[in-house]
Amino acid sequence: MTKQLFESVKLNKSGVTLKNRIVMAPMTTMSSFFDGSVTDELINYYGARAGEAAMIIVESTFIEDYGRAFDGSLGINKDTQIEGLAELAKAIKDKGSKAIIQLYHAGRMGKSTLNKGRKPIGASTVKALRDDAEEPEALTAEQVEEMIAHFGDAARRAMEAGFDGVEIHGANTYLIQQFFSPHSNTRDDEFGGDVEKRLTFGRRVIREIEAMKEKLGKHNFIVGYRFSPEELEKPGITFQDTMLMLNTFAHECIDYFHFSLNDYKRGSIIDTEDIECLIHKYHKNKSTALGEIPVIGSGGIWEKTDAEEALETGFDIVSVGKAHIVNPDWAEKIKNGDPIDRKIDGEREDYKIPRPFWNSVGFLKK
Ligand SMILES: Cc1cc2nc3c(=O)[nH]c(=O)nc-3n(C[C@H](O)[C@H](O)[C@H](O)COP(=O)(O)O)c2cc1C
Repeated sequence: MTKQLFESVKLNKSGVTLKNRIVMAPMTTMSSFFDGSVTDELINYYGARAGEAAMIIVESTFIEDYGRAFDGSLGINKDTQIEGLAELAKAIKDKGSKAIIQLYHAGRMGKSTLNKGRKPIGASTVKALRDDAEEPEALTAEQVEEMIAHFGDAARRAMEAGFDGVEIHGANTYLIQQFFSPHSNTRDDEFGGDVEKRLTFGRRVIREIEAMKEKLGKHNFIVGYRFSPEELEKPGITFQDTMLMLNTFAHECIDYFHFSLNDYKRGSIIDTEDIECLIHKYHKNKSTALGEIPVIGSGGIWEKTDAEEALETGFDIVSVGKAHIVNPDWAEKIKNGDPIDRKIDGEREDYKIPRPFWNSVGFLKK
């Protein structure tokens, strides 16, 4: 049967039902206070985008004091952040969307200038492939355990702040992906080695969050997982590795998997001759358990027809990023058949975009 955008979707692990198949993609706004706490501008920005969308996924939020990848990053690293985060969650929920927050640690993508002079840390001492990358310090066995506990604490803060769920950021080259990647992880303990061992860190993070759900009795707290399907580094993550990881994680408390893509129809970035959509390969290689978990597609969805095509191509839910910056009420416009704007044509206040973010969205202005 054809999937409809405005029909509900059940998340099987938490038992939560989403009212439709539309979510706002997580997008870093770099608009928090210097210590990562929430600003009024952020609350207004997210509140303005909540409503018709089933879930608003709040941007990447650092879970430990030295985990920032950029200035103005939002933080969920201390209990003192909970009060501001609670206002943010409320602004989203009061408008009728589920509030999800994305949890990340920069790992080797961090910089000492962003993290109080401290060297970045990583699975191993391998530098990222970019000009200004610093050589990370490899986490000791004890520090790995502490880092897993930090993810659990961050999830607890999200629960206490009233969020409906968290999205584990296993994508975009941050720490969780670094543990999965054969480029950045050359460890020889239980967290490194073959692909099964490299997925151990991600699985432990998931289990830590599940244990926190149990402890706080938050059985219907949503847990999503975002991943980058492949890596250009050599050696790097292959789609085969990714499918093994997803088929394994399907047995954990994951409510949805979220592809991190800039084009939902994309084929391989490693073998550019191979143009078969990754979502088609996903369906060919998924286990029965994975088939029961909704999968979110992202990248280049602006019009209703794009969203419908993404569903037809094999995704269960669409995540919409840039179109939500330009059209705060994107899902409502789609529902009503109103035209979608491609460019920002007005003042910052009209779009409720925080000041620091306004400066970086020039490419979306008319
Ligand atoms: C300004 C900006 C910030 C982003 N920040 C994040 C982020 O914090 N976490 C994440 O997983 N993806 C991030 N992304 C990727 C988006 O979630 C999304 O996958 C991408 O923009 C493609 O979707 P779109 O074409 O609908 O924008 C960001 C994208 C943009 C444009």
